[in-house]
Amino acid sequence: MAFIIILFFYLLNYESLSISSSVLSEEYQLVKKPDVMEDAYDMVKDGIHVRTGLKASDGYMTVVNNCTNCHSAKLVIQNRMNEDRWRATIKWMQKTQNLWELGENEQIIIDYLVLNYPPELKGRRSNLDNVDWYVLE
Ligand code: HEC
Repeated sequence: MAFIIILFFYLLNYESLSISSSVLSEEYQLVKKPDVMEDAYDMVKDGIHVRTGLKASDGYMTVVNNCTNCHSAKLVIQNRMNEDRWRATIKWMQKTQNLWELGENEQIIIDYLVLNYPPELKGRRSNLDNVDWYVLE
């Protein structure tokens, strides 16, 4: 008898459980990745190659294909160097990190990097304003 009562409440509960799980699946749908991203592997938006964040100017695909295999493109973007230092960085990766010979792509890549990521204050973020400061505890 007790078993039947427990079963009865279990079934009642089960109803409410399934309601809450349908609420959950609605939330799940809200955060789903938009389908466009799936065919946007090489999408360029506002001059930026969306997948890597690299500026989509001449030669960027050569950079995507040779410079984002081992580390994120962010490592490339956050560095700003002149031609000599970009060249030295590439030589360093070839010597110590198994970066392959780039052949004539090397100049294409360096031209791209010097044009888009030169050693300037360009990369500096703008000043903070409207900050809610808080006290560390
Ligand atoms: C074969 C793997 C590989 C490839 C391909 C590669 N890198 Fe690297 N790179 C590395 C490794 C490993 C590091 C060191 C990462 C670390 O310190 O966390 C590095 C570091 C860097 C750094 C930071 C250097 C520093 O002084 O901190 C830059 C900039 C960079 N890579 C640019 C490039 C560019 C540009 C290309 C394309 C020509 C490229 N990488 C391709 C392996 C690679």
